[in-house]
Order: sequence, then C-alpha cells, then structure tokens
Amino acid sequence: MEWPSHGGQPTQIKKLFTLSEQHPILDFSANLNPLGPPEWVRDAWIDSFNQIVVYPDPSYLDARTSIAEREGLRPEQVVLTNGGAEAIFLTAKRVQGGKALVIHPTFGEYEQACAHYGIHIERLYLNEAEQFAFPYEQVLEAISNVDVIFLCRPNNPTGTAVEENSLRDIMDLAVHSGVLVVIDEAFADFMISPNKELTTWLETYSNLVLLRSMTKMFTIPGVRLGYALTQELTASAMRADQIPWSVNSAAAALVPILIRDTTFVKATKEWLIEQWTSLRSNLIALGYDVSSTCTNFYLLRDPQRIEQTQELYVFLLNNGLLARHTTTFPGLDGRYLRLAIRSSQENEQLLQLLSRWRVES
Ligand SMILES: Cc1ncc(COP(=O)(O)O)c(C=O)c1O
Repeated sequence: MEWPSHGGQPTQIKKLFTLSEQHPILDFSANLNPLGPPEWVRDAWIDSFNQIVVYPDPSYLDARTSIAEREGLRPEQVVLTNGGAEAIFLTAKRVQGGKALVIHPTFGEYEQACAHYGIHIERLYLNEAEQFAFPYEQVLEAISNVDVIFLCRPNNPTGTAVEENSLRDIMDLAVHSGVLVVIDEAFADFMISPNKELTTWLETYSNLVLLRSMTKMFTIPGVRLGYALTQELTASAMRADQIPWSVNSAAAALVPILIRDTTFVKATKEWLIEQWTSLRSNLIALGYDVSSTCTNFYLLRDPQRIEQTQELYVFLLNNGLLARHTTTFPGLDGRYLRLAIRSSQENEQLLQLLSRWRVES
C-alpha cells in the first residue's frame, strides 16, 4: 500500500481505503491550529485582489522588513519563501553534493531536499526507549563528517525539542567545523515549554539558519508562506537561488499583518496549554502512551497492543477520525499514530473512540 507522505490528505486516504466521498472525516493528521485562520485574513485576502494585476515586488522588501522588525534583525537577513518547504530546499542547495546529518524520526522533507541536490545522508535516531531523547553525544561525534545538520525544533512527529544547552554545544562545534546548522522552527510559535528565542544566536553563529512557517500557526497551508533567517551572505545567496516571484502578491501582502498579530499567537498558546493538560491526562488515564510534546501534536500508541497500530488507525478512520500514520517515518515504522491537538469537542470525540477501541476491538 502506498501511503501519502504528508498529513492532511483526507481525499487520498478515502481513495486508499475505498471509503465513499461522503464519509465524514475529522482531520487530526495535519498539525494546523484549529483556532485559525484569524478572522481578518479573509478580508485582507479579498482586499489584495486588486494586486493580482501587477507583479509582486521581486525583493519582497515590505514583507522582509516587517519580519526583520519583529525579529530584531536586518531585512538583508530575511528570505521570504513559498512555505517552510521552499526554505528547506534553499538551505539544502547551499551544500549541493555534500553530506547531511538527519536525526529521525523527523520531517521527511529534509531527505527529499537532500536527494534533490545529490546530498549524501548520515542518519541518527532519537532514543525511543527514553522518551525520544536527543542523541546528543552521537550528534557531536558526527558533526565533523558532514556539511549540514537539519534539526527540527520542536520535532515533527515527536513534538519533543532538543534542549538549549545541547543545542549550544552543537552550534559551537559546528561553527568551528564550518558546518551549516539548519533549525526548522515551523512549530516554534506553539512551544508551551519556555522557549528562548534563537534569533539572537544569529549574532554569534554565522553558520545558523532558522526556518519558519506561517502555515501551522495561522492555518493557511494553501497560502504558502514561510521565511528563513540567517546571516546576510547566506540569505543573499538563498534569495539568488529562488525562482523569481516564488511568493504571490496576495500572500506577500499578508505578511506584515500576520507578523504583527501577536495577540492571536498568545491566545493560541494559552488555549493549547489548557487543551493539552486535560487531553494528556485523559489519554494516560485510558492507558495510552503519549510522547512528551511541547507543541500542538503528539505521538500515541496503545502499549497493550503495540502490534496493532494499523488496526487502530483503520478503526479511527472507519469512525470518521483521520490520524497521521507513521509508516513513512524511519525510526517509527508505523508503530505510533501522530495526532494534532484539536478543539475540545474534537478531542472529546477522539477520547470516546479510544475508549471504545479498548472495549470493542
Ligand atoms: C517541520 C516542518 N517544517 C516545515 C514544514 C513545511 O511547512 P509549509 O507548509 O509552510 O511549507 C512542515 C509541514 O508539515 C513541517 O512539519
């Protein structure tokens, strides 16, 4: 069976499982903010209609300046991208034909970008037996053999985050060895544990590239907006590698407003903390294992029936709830399900199904 390689694809999944188009689906497979998009996005999008008759500013200076102001950086350090995905490919291109370190299970796009640019991949694995602990020592050992390290913080799909002290050691060694460190912060806005902003690290580390996505927090996967933050030379090389006008004008016009909407981000975090606190304790009370996430999704497995994760997936799907399978994540190989944290009503539906799974299956 050929599984889709991303979450959020209910139509393909229905086809794969020969379910009718009308089969109801609550989508827990894409890690999107259920509170979004903010209400003003619709009006802003409609307002930008007039701009479709002109080309976007190819330098995206307004958008980049608004990001730079918010991050305390210079616009020259910002690359506006067509989603976080374009930013990943642009960083991979920096080390075309070289070697990369990827720590699994993690987001599949790093390997795809590496394959695209002929980059050889060294793989390490989070320690599943110790709550997906980060393989700190092994990473330090591997650094001098590679040209780039891709780190996902918080990590998709585990929701865990490498500790700041470990990260600092990695950065120190990597800068010394001339290794590029790409930290994908697509989910950093959601971090419910203390999250020191890494942007100030750009002053110290010329080898650091931070990747951001506006997709997840603002629930705009169809808009395609992301950005990279790095030192000026790297940023300028990345911009030069972009397809001209890779971000459309309506999307670019949203950036200054999105970046200033800190109220929405704050409200989301408060909501998330409340949701996860109660959901987590309910899942544990039902006897499920959950990963120690610090963001808006988590891994789940039934310790009483570890071998039957696929049956659990199908049981949920048949009952209208779409989880993210983990068969395409090396290091998980289908033994867990990844679930987004949804609204309290939807989370309640999940809990009801998971308690039925205990009794009925
Ligand atoms: C860790 C991570 N980085 C980047 C992306 C890409 O985000 P975007 O939709 O903005 O391209 C995703 C999407 O799932 C992701 O999970």
